[in-house]
Amino acid sequence: MGAEVEGVDLSRPMSDATFNDIRDALHRHHVIALRGQNLQPQAFLEFARRLGPPEPHVLDQYHHATHPDILVLSNVVRDGKPTGLADGGTYWHSDYSYLEIPARATLLYSIEVPKVGGDTLFADQEQAYEDLPDAMKKRIDGRVTLNVYGNRDDLDLKSRTCAPPPTQQQKDKRGAHLIRHPLVRRHPYSGRKALYSVSGTSFAIEGMPDDEGLALLRELAAHSTQPRYQYRMQYGVGDVVIWDNASVLHSATLTDPADPRTLFRITVKETQRPVG
Ligand code: SIN
Repeated sequence: MGAEVEGVDLSRPMSDATFNDIRDALHRHHVIALRGQNLQPQAFLEFARRLGPPEPHVLDQYHHATHPDILVLSNVVRDGKPTGLADGGTYWHSDYSYLEIPARATLLYSIEVPKVGGDTLFADQEQAYEDLPDAMKKRIDGRVTLNVYGNRDDLDLKSRTCAPPPTQQQKDKRGAHLIRHPLVRRHPYSGRKALYSVSGTSFAIEGMPDDEGLALLRELAAHSTQPRYQYRMQYGVGDVVIWDNASVLHSATLTDPADPRTLFRITVKETQRPVG
C-alpha cells in the first residue's frame, strides 16, 4: 500500500492515458502521492472531477469561500475565527460511510505543513481481510453494519478526537438516519474483498445484540489498524495525496494547535451503493 506518482503536473491538461495510469495506480496501491504540485483551487477540482462527482462536506462553515466542493482543513485561527476544520478525522474511518452512496476517493492538497507531525495514517483493509482466519471470514461475510455520522469511540464533544457535530439544519439537509453497509465489501473496480467501515461511523451489526456487534467491530478494527497494515503520509508543501475509501481506513494525527497545518480536501462519491 502507498505509492508515489512522478512526472505529472496536475495543473496542466492531462491525457486520458495519463489519467487512467493514475487511476489504476490508485486501485493497485490504495493510496498515492503526487508531490510538489502548484495548484489553483479550480485546477484541483477539475482533476478531482475525473475520479467522480465531488460531494461537499456536511460542515459547510468550512467550505472554501469560492469553491464549496473544497473543504478547508486547518488549525489556523485568524481574527478569532477558525479558517478551517481543525482536528477533522482524527480517528480511523472511511469517508462518508454515513451516507448511502459513500466516498470513492478523497484528495488532499497540502498548503501549510507543521514543523512537527501533521501526518495522515492509512490502514489496508483488503490485506487485513485477507489475513483473517477462515472462521472469522465466515462469521462476518454477508453481515451488515449500521452507520451514522460521528466517531463511535469518542462521543465527548469536548474531546479533540470526537467528530464535530453538524447543526440541526445541516443534519436535516443530509439525513441523519442509520445507513446500512456491507461489513465486507467488494471493491467496485478490482472486485477484491475488504473490511469496510469497521471503525468510525459503524455503531452496530444488524441482527446482533448491540454490545456483541460493537465488540466484534472493535475487534476487527483493532486487527485491521495494526502497524503492519499502516502507511504514514508525511507532507511537504504542495503534495497531493489520493486514497481509495473502499480499501483503506484513514486517520489524521493530532498536531500542536500553534503549529499551522492547512490542507484543501475534495471528496468524490461512488456511483452506486457498496456491495458485499
Ligand atoms: C480526513 O479525515 O479527511 C483528514 C485527514 C487529515 O487531515 O490528515
